[in-house]
Amino acid sequence: MAKCRVYVKELEKKLGRRPTFFTQTFGCQMNAKDSEKLAGILEKIGYVQVEGEEADFVVYNTCTVRENANTRVYGRLGYLNSLKRKNPNMMIALCGCMMQENAVVEKIKKSYRFVDMIFGTHNIFKLAELMDTRLSSKTMIIDIWKDTSLIVEDLPSERKYRFKAGVNIMYGCNNFCSYCIVPYVRGRERSRNPEDIVKEVEELVADGVVEIMLLGQNVNSYGKSLKEPLSFAALLSRLEQIEGLKRIRFMTSHPKDLSDELIEVMRTSGKICRHLHLPVQSGSTRILKKMNRNYTREDYLKLAEKIRTAMPDISLTTDIIIGFPGETEEDFLETLEVVKKVRYDSAYTFLYSKRSGTPAAVMEGQVEEAVAKERFDRLLKTVQGIAGEMTGRMEGMEEEVLVEEKNSQNPSLLTGRLSNNSLVHFKGSEDLIGKLVRVKLSECRGFYYFGELAKN
Ligand code: SAH
Ligand code: SF4
Ligand code: F3S
Repeated sequence: MAKCRVYVKELEKKLGRRPTFFTQTFGCQMNAKDSEKLAGILEKIGYVQVEGEEADFVVYNTCTVRENANTRVYGRLGYLNSLKRKNPNMMIALCGCMMQENAVVEKIKKSYRFVDMIFGTHNIFKLAELMDTRLSSKTMIIDIWKDTSLIVEDLPSERKYRFKAGVNIMYGCNNFCSYCIVPYVRGRERSRNPEDIVKEVEELVADGVVEIMLLGQNVNSYGKSLKEPLSFAALLSRLEQIEGLKRIRFMTSHPKDLSDELIEVMRTSGKICRHLHLPVQSGSTRILKKMNRNYTREDYLKLAEKIRTAMPDISLTTDIIIGFPGETEEDFLETLEVVKKVRYDSAYTFLYSKRSGTPAAVMEGQVEEAVAKERFDRLLKTVQGIAGEMTGRMEGMEEEVLVEEKNSQNPSLLTGRLSNNSLVHFKGSEDLIGKLVRVKLSECRGFYYFGELAKN
């Protein structure tokens, strides 16, 4: 890192200004958290963060969960090349999930020679070292680790918001859902020690954070691989005790191992938010089996019912894949029915995307695109209709809101988030940002509210 600092200092003298960096996240919240760590390292080296690619160091943190994630990256690389021609000091780094695939790295080596360094998901902490190697070697640096059992603690991290933060509790995934590339690009599941998590959260709280989002591909299996196993629910109970911490969120929950203990801890907690993201993927038991999800339609419905009975005000959200190999109209109708029964506050709907190397990619009965699209549109209509009704159920109530930012379209308004993750816009002064305030939810407009600060 020291050598990189010297380089950046010299660059500063040469340019007559502080050298800049830009990170772009293409994937999920874990990917975003990695970008914050990369930003932390770059700031330590001496760069200053800017918005947009016109910077001296650009990092694309890629995602490969669906084909269109890859397409977006290739689409932007041409633009980066044109910027680099104008700025010879510019360095370009590609990292993240897409880089864990051999075919991608080969393609970049061949067709995108202007890229300075490529690394994967397991060694982002090596950014400074790789940069140093690049500076002395003049060729593209490629460093991809297949897997790792390493958990690197205490990396610097540059938070996007000062009052809320994501906290990794585990890395990787062992579930191997048959459509999903994540276990191949993120490696085997490994949990952080609870002491390290508690310490990080305490430090964040001391630094002004009031809301944390615990991150893992399947938080419900947290702790199973620890020397002294500890359940996710028990971890939540420990975090609940941290003074000054006001809100706890987490994602993602796999339905197959969501425990009664977790429901009980959530029900009795004053800090865990009233929101559960519970991806169903399909409402057909036959398809769920082919997806290797390890639950049936009935298991899922029973679980959703149990959660709603324990916490009637909870908001449930989900992920659904349409057009999985072998999906028939009947399977699809079963999915629609689950949506109608569970009544989600929102749902992310995806067209199945073939990921080479996964079992589903070679399954028979790949669904025609036109058929899948038509089902997708029908699903979206149902999802949106129900989501609108569900959001509206709190109209007229007064709720606690974490104020997040100035409204981007109307600067006289603030935007905040309810415990159940719904957004509310209301009049208020900027100094409320980062604070918890009470807001009357006067009017629901589709998927968000307009409200008024409560007088107290
Ligand atoms: N670990 C999380 C999900 C991570 S990926 C979980 O198990 O819930 C986020 C979402 O992307 C998944 O829930 C799934 O709906 C979707 N997804 C994953 N692979 C996909 C594929 N090949 N095609 C379409 N959608 C996919
Ligand atoms: Fe992918 Fe399944 Fe793991 Fe989620 S649980 S990351 S969908 S393999
Ligand atoms: Fe994408 Fe990797 Fe996340 S593939 S969804 S960025 S774990």
